[in-house]
Amino acid sequence: MPSYVITGANRGIGIEFVRQLSADPANTVFGLVRNKGNSQDLLALEKERANVRVLEADVTDAPRLRAAADEVAKATGGTLEYLINNAAYVQKERFDYDPVTYGEKGEDAALEADLDQNFRVNVLGVVHTTNAFLPLLRAAAKHTTARVITLSSGVGDVDLTLAMPFAGALPYCASKAAVNMVVAKYAAKFTDENLVFLAISPGLVDTSTSPPTPEELKGAIAFITALHKVYPDWEAKPLTPTQSVTAMLKVIPNVERKDSGAFVSHLGSKKWV
Ligand SMILES: NC(=O)c1ccc[n+]([C@@H]2O[C@H](COP(=O)([O-])OP(=O)(O)OC[C@H]3O[C@@H](n4cnc5c(N)ncnc54)[C@H](OP(=O)(O)O)[C@@H]3O)[C@@H](O)[C@H]2O)c1
Repeated sequence: MPSYVITGANRGIGIEFVRQLSADPANTVFGLVRNKGNSQDLLALEKERANVRVLEADVTDAPRLRAAADEVAKATGGTLEYLINNAAYVQKERFDYDPVTYGEKGEDAALEADLDQNFRVNVLGVVHTTNAFLPLLRAAAKHTTARVITLSSGVGDVDLTLAMPFAGALPYCASKAAVNMVVAKYAAKFTDENLVFLAISPGLVDTSTSPPTPEELKGAIAFITALHKVYPDWEAKPLTPTQSVTAMLKVIPNVERKDSGAFVSHLGSKKWV
């Protein structure tokens, strides 16, 4: 009876992981959200399915994460087979800013705030969450392969950045490149245990909850156009969360110790769309 913890589970790719994984009654799925008041769809799923449980913790709050891990441990007997670090700060404002734009506009404070927020949630949050659930994962790893899957992004890939070329969204992209190293560090630490770490990009996925502003639309078109130049065969259309999670769930259970520390796409390769 594998158990899963998914962070950022109230919307987007996170809730789709909960939906697809809990469709199998043999799985126990814990959805971590930072605010239950903002999680109506997930709470409805919890009511509908006996194998879904919603827990509250901000990924930047280590004590609260440890409390959530205690609750999971009580329910599972102290083990956890899968942690999916999905939560992230996905910056929309200043997406088109490259590193120089901040300086040219004299927006030093915005640069500092953007870097701080992206690294706090997307890097530090992953470390805090992983550390909180490690005792459960290590307990599971005594009997089976336990996996820590971290949602990264193709925009954290240096080769893709140069091929596009894409200079925008520095804080977000740098945070995803950094989290890839975090994943590699955990893999390097646990070479002797049956504990596997993977960074995975979900592809380009439409998780929007409202129509884009004209500014956001302009940025998205420029981004997709540049990406299309790298992948001329790509239909230049975002995936749905269902398509993305279906693809990732073909990769995730097959990741073994020899793959630990890798950074792959939803296709299990370095093809990002
Ligand atoms: N969508 C894409 O095309 C795409 C592409 C590449 C990579 N990714 C990565 O895939 C993952 C999911 O993306 P998405 O599009 O589903 O994102 P999303 O729709 O923006 O959702 C982000 C989730 O993270 C949660 N979150 C944010 N800050 C948090 C915090 N401090 N503590 C706990 N939870 C927090 C949000 O909760 P609230 O609702 O409370 O804000 C929300 O549930 C992210 O890691 C993202 O970087 C996405």
